[in-house]
Amino acid sequence: MNAPASLPNDPQTAIREITQRIEPALIEIRRDLHAHPELAFEEVRTAGVVARELARLGIEHQTGVAKTGVVGLIRGGRPGPVLVIRADMDALPIHEQTGLPFASTVDGKMHACGHDLHTTTLIGVAEVLRDLAPQIAGTVKLVFQPAEEAIGGMKVMLEEGVLDGPKVDFALGFHNHPHSPVGTFDYTRGPALAAADVFTVTVHGVSGHAAYPHGAVDPIVAAAHLITQLQTVVSREVNPLHPAVVTVGAIHGGLASNIIPDSVTFTGTVRTLHDAARDTAEAAIKRLCAGALEGLRVRCEVDYIRGVPPLVNDDRVLDPTMDAVRHQFGDVVRERPPTMGAEDFALMSQRVPSFQLGIGSGAPGRDDRLHNSNYQPDEACIGLGVQALSRAALELLS
Ligand code: NI
Repeated sequence: MNAPASLPNDPQTAIREITQRIEPALIEIRRDLHAHPELAFEEVRTAGVVARELARLGIEHQTGVAKTGVVGLIRGGRPGPVLVIRADMDALPIHEQTGLPFASTVDGKMHACGHDLHTTTLIGVAEVLRDLAPQIAGTVKLVFQPAEEAIGGMKVMLEEGVLDGPKVDFALGFHNHPHSPVGTFDYTRGPALAAADVFTVTVHGVSGHAAYPHGAVDPIVAAAHLITQLQTVVSREVNPLHPAVVTVGAIHGGLASNIIPDSVTFTGTVRTLHDAARDTAEAAIKRLCAGALEGLRVRCEVDYIRGVPPLVNDDRVLDPTMDAVRHQFGDVVRERPPTMGAEDFALMSQRVPSFQLGIGSGAPGRDDRLHNSNYQPDEACIGLGVQALSRAALELLS
């Protein structure tokens, strides 16, 4: 089957021309989403915009997936595998300070991670691929995911069967990267983002008068020792060739200068890229805490919760995607080392071969960071992302 008569035959031109035609409308959608940020599992208005646009495009879709998620389906002109393209939709509890005309209208909520860009980009991809559907051998599943930040919308989407009906063969995710200039794209081979676990330790001593420590068991001194001992997990126990981070981010205990309290609680995160490092760190934290009973006379309760796994990029999706980006734009790609951040697209990467594409969003002359109250990405990354992802879908399903 051929492309519609009005479309150029070569995919590079067709994708570029459709994108340029829809770009002004996409910018409007992005600014509307940006002005109305919604936190995890509250993305009712955002999902409404997505459903409205998919309906306008005549794309079959399902709302209410994982509460506020939306899943669209584009069937190609020929049979073939099923590709997920995933965007996240939620904002952050940050008070925006950009002063932009389309800044957040909601106090204390902001699209500071650029998920407004992601949602808009996938709407653009939907329009391009709808127009090019006759050239697609297979099916594209458009996954608009709620609650990426901390709460875990992907987990719920997977539990609700987002990989079934039709069964998904591989997945493409993407994230805007302000440290990469707009117009560039980046990738990481293998483990790209970390597993993120949370531990909470409650150190139980025996309270007493601060002037008579021999009549008490001091949990504050014990907690101080334990936190110092935790610094040996990465330095002395984990394989040095496996990156790992153990950070204690909060400690609470005691009320007055003259009282030894009953207990102290501290909590932290463990970040790792490899299962072996993750297992080692969890075991070491538990063992050191258990040992405090013998050494320091305190009893420790350890609550260790495994969060998302590492996001592992699969060459079978990465290589054809980066080739497609080169075919569309030329040599605008670069390899990046992994980072110890985390993201729940990792859960999908555990189930099907996956790749997360980095889309440069850094505006000229700015030095932006994600999760910052003054984040001002370059909106041109939307159209460029639409072209890159559409070309990748076309080539992955060729
Ligand atoms: Ni994000």
